[in-house]
Amino acid sequence: MATKEDVLKALAAVKSPDGTPITGTGKLSDVVASDGKVFFSITVDAGVVPQWEPVRKAAEAAVRAMPGVKSAMVALTGERAAGAPRAAPAPPQGGHGHAHAPRGERPVQGPPGVAAIVAVASGKGGVGKSTTAVNLALGLRDLGLKVGVLDADIYGPSMPKLLAIRGRPETLGGNRLKPMTGYGLTVMSIGFLVAEDTPMIWRGPMVMSALTQMLREVEWGTLDVMIVDMPPGTGDAQLTIAQQVPLAGAVIVSTPQDLALIDARRGVEMFKRVNVPLLGIIENMSYFVCPKCGERHDIFGHGGAHAEADKLGVPFLGEVPLHMAIRETSDAGRPVVATEPDGPHAKTYREIAARVRDKLGAKGGARAAPKIVIEA
Ligand SMILES: Nc1ncnc2c1ncn2[C@@H]1O[C@H](COP(=O)(O)OP(=O)(O)O)[C@@H](O)[C@H]1O
Ligand SMILES: [Mg+2]
Repeated sequence: MATKEDVLKALAAVKSPDGTPITGTGKLSDVVASDGKVFFSITVDAGVVPQWEPVRKAAEAAVRAMPGVKSAMVALTGERAAGAPRAAPAPPQGGHGHAHAPRGERPVQGPPGVAAIVAVASGKGGVGKSTTAVNLALGLRDLGLKVGVLDADIYGPSMPKLLAIRGRPETLGGNRLKPMTGYGLTVMSIGFLVAEDTPMIWRGPMVMSALTQMLREVEWGTLDVMIVDMPPGTGDAQLTIAQQVPLAGAVIVSTPQDLALIDARRGVEMFKRVNVPLLGIIENMSYFVCPKCGERHDIFGHGGAHAEADKLGVPFLGEVPLHMAIRETSDAGRPVVATEPDGPHAKTYREIAARVRDKLGAKGGARAAPKIVIEA
């Protein structure tokens, strides 16, 4: 397998816009090379991003052509000058006359064949966002929709594990990637490109750059709905995604506890601020059903998310119990909706999915709403 040193050697042949090798420019991030998967980013001043885009492409092609490299992803990040306001045009560089908006600040076009992109977000990690995203996607699939999952949780990509998808995306012509598939879902995750256990420091613009590539350089095909498993939280990276990806709507996942609810509220505020319709809140780990006696225990003060949704004027989409079957299937890559389709949890997720589908039909906005299929 190619090492970091091999990659740097190959990159020495790639020229920056002024003709010097990019390895000497100080603009490369640390190169992550693990198990044949390579990732790094190039950070340049926001104003010169367009000149660097061919360099990014060339760097990616050079690495992909190396023996011992299975996949490569190179992100190009435009950095605003310190203190520059978020929406301001980049300062002109080197007498070029006019400024270019950095790549990261333009709205990103969704894949052409995708009717509706829905973000699944949470105010913090560990509330079951990914588990909910995957089972919601499967619920929508069960309603007859063609569904994709984009794992945008680049801090902790979980779709390879949750859907038990191994291997790497095939490269098609022209630098395009073929998405992976699992349980009838079309799936893309940074986890297919970068080893899951590779710790990476991501800044806001880098997240968007990686995500733009997963949106634009992957052959998603025709989808009724794309579920985006968002990075947890409401920081810069999340706001950038909410702002720039053409979302048809957002779903917030929260546990019933007070603290999680404060975070959920921040999530609601974030999407409201950028005019993304809130499809609703899902209460996860809502109550506990004792596997022995079958009795229901409201150990976390069940119902908090419903009350909070009402208070915020956001639809409540449903509650999912804390249940061992959900955890075990999820953690084993056998999501409950797919593997226990006749069980109570699958039914719960399908009901939530139907509400999401109906809300999308009503709020399709600028993008076409997915076709409505009557549940069998
Ligand atoms: N409703 C649930 N019942 C039981 N365990 C759950 C439930 N939802 C999620 N989990 C478990 O909680 C942990 C965190 O869930 P995950 O979906 O990875 O959260 P997040 O994406 O918000 O970090 C996982 O082990 C998952 O299996
Ligand atoms: Mg997750």
